[in-house]
Amino acid sequence: MQQGKFITLEGIDGAGKSTHLIWLEDFLRRKRINNVMTREPGGTPLGEQLRTLLLDQRQIMHAETEALMMFAARREHLDKVILPSLTRGDWVISDRFADASFAYQGGGRGVSFDKLQILEQWVQGSFQPDLTLYFDVPIETARQRVQSVKTADRFEQEQDEFFRRVREAYLQRAQQFPERIRLIDASRPLQDVTSALEGIIQETLFN
Ligand code: TMP
Repeated sequence: MQQGKFITLEGIDGAGKSTHLIWLEDFLRRKRINNVMTREPGGTPLGEQLRTLLLDQRQIMHAETEALMMFAARREHLDKVILPSLTRGDWVISDRFADASFAYQGGGRGVSFDKLQILEQWVQGSFQPDLTLYFDVPIETARQRVQSVKTADRFEQEQDEFFRRVREAYLQRAQQFPERIRLIDASRPLQDVTSALEGIIQETLFN
């Protein structure tokens, strides 16, 4: 029986998720809500090892191998972290979840959405986040942010065209699931993004 809430954060690389995650953790602390912050791919010892392989620039893999590894890491994450935490009554905040597979492997790499849906059904059944915050930014803004932070990983090194497809897939999913996925224009000044975020969380999870 799920008691806690499951919130996921999504966006192309450089959308500013990390900053908003820190704000969200602080917000929940102020509300005295026990929470678990986690991420995908990763969140478990095995998942973190898969993450290392998935982000390693030297790895060359078939797009479907990449999709299978993302869902394998997710299966472990659900079993070891997400579901037990929610059952305990904690809230779980995940930096990415299955929408990222539809956006990156589906939109970006061209893996068939039907195949991804089969994997989703296999790994999650009907389980979905209570709320997904999708931070939307133009490709150019995201690219500038990524370049200024660190050396690019296997995804970040992709061309603008790849991220255009990823963003398009995210936007389509936001349209497809408007109740669950809330789009936030993250190209605005930080303070505006934060107040939009707070408004959405209050409205969807505390009313
Ligand atoms: P991060 O940089 O936001 O931690 O995410 C790691 C990378 O993994 C990011 O470039 C997006 C990618 N990714 C996928 O391609 N598919 C997935 O299902 C997930 C969860 C992440």
